[in-house]
Amino acid sequence: MRNLDDVENMVYDAASVTAMVIAAMSRTQNVRLKEIVDALVEHGHAFLKQVKLTDEEFEKGLDFLRAVGLACNDKHNEVVLLADVLGLSTLVTVLNNSDASGRTPGALLGPFYRGDSPQYAHGECIACEYSPGSPLFVSGRVLDTKGEPIPNAKVDVWQASPVGLYENQDASQPDKNLRGHFYTDGEGRFSFKSVRPAGYPVPTDGPVGALLEKQNRHPYRPAHLHFVVIAEGYATLVSQVFADDSEHLNSDVVFGVNRRLVGTFERHEPETGPKSAVDEPYYTLEYDFVLAKGTPTYPTPPIK
Ligand code: BEZ
Ligand code: FE
Repeated sequence: MRNLDDVENMVYDAASVTAMVIAAMSRTQNVRLKEIVDALVEHGHAFLKQVKLTDEEFEKGLDFLRAVGLACNDKHNEVVLLADVLGLSTLVTVLNNSDASGRTPGALLGPFYRGDSPQYAHGECIACEYSPGSPLFVSGRVLDTKGEPIPNAKVDVWQASPVGLYENQDASQPDKNLRGHFYTDGEGRFSFKSVRPAGYPVPTDGPVGALLEKQNRHPYRPAHLHFVVIAEGYATLVSQVFADDSEHLNSDVVFGVNRRLVGTFERHEPETGPKSAVDEPYYTLEYDFVLAKGTPTYPTPPIK
């Protein structure tokens, strides 16, 4: 038999497995990639040791991940959904958006951002002509951390319908309904009309839904509008504004609610208030976004 004294990389015990894997990856040239994958292996191995994962559980876990991948297509992203319900997306957002600058907090992008939304002029409506629902008038400013207006900022918005469905989930809505972008004017202002969104359950017909059920968790998000705000010389803001009177504000299934992101959805009776020409009950929302200096980035749409 061969003398094995010179074969160092063999399994002796649990610690030797981790050491062997880290050594095998030691020539990774990209320093950041090495840092990330080394930590992933170390923490992943520590996790397996902590829970003493059985063979059967390992197979189940791998099968679950396979099912998550298989549930993805151009119109649905179950991987993002999994990251969202496990709080990974919110944690990454908080880690990258928390400083004392006073900028608006970020919130997760979610799986329904499509990019390439239609451009609208100030005050235009992002809901198609026959979208039922209570009118909602949104206005605000994009400001820097000193309170100065940022002109020509791109304000990209998307939202669910009054029955809680994004247009890509709902055959009755036209393509890109309730999605649009605007550019702020010289005073940093934007405004648009829409219909009031409802809270909604995240998709539950895939493996992530099955997990939520096993965890005895409800699948609901409070009513909200999504925003991506992009301006030259500023860090991009990916965020959401939540309706203050919404159910589930206290138990968002994807952990997105931050006190500063709760907006006042003010109800007005017909023919009263700032839009007195409206002959049915309607809502107004005023919300200012504050951007910190930085380099703009462009989020990758999770679906087409
Ligand atoms: C959303 O707000 O669009 C969303 C976020 C996470 C999971 C599902 C939907
Ligand atoms: Fe949403």
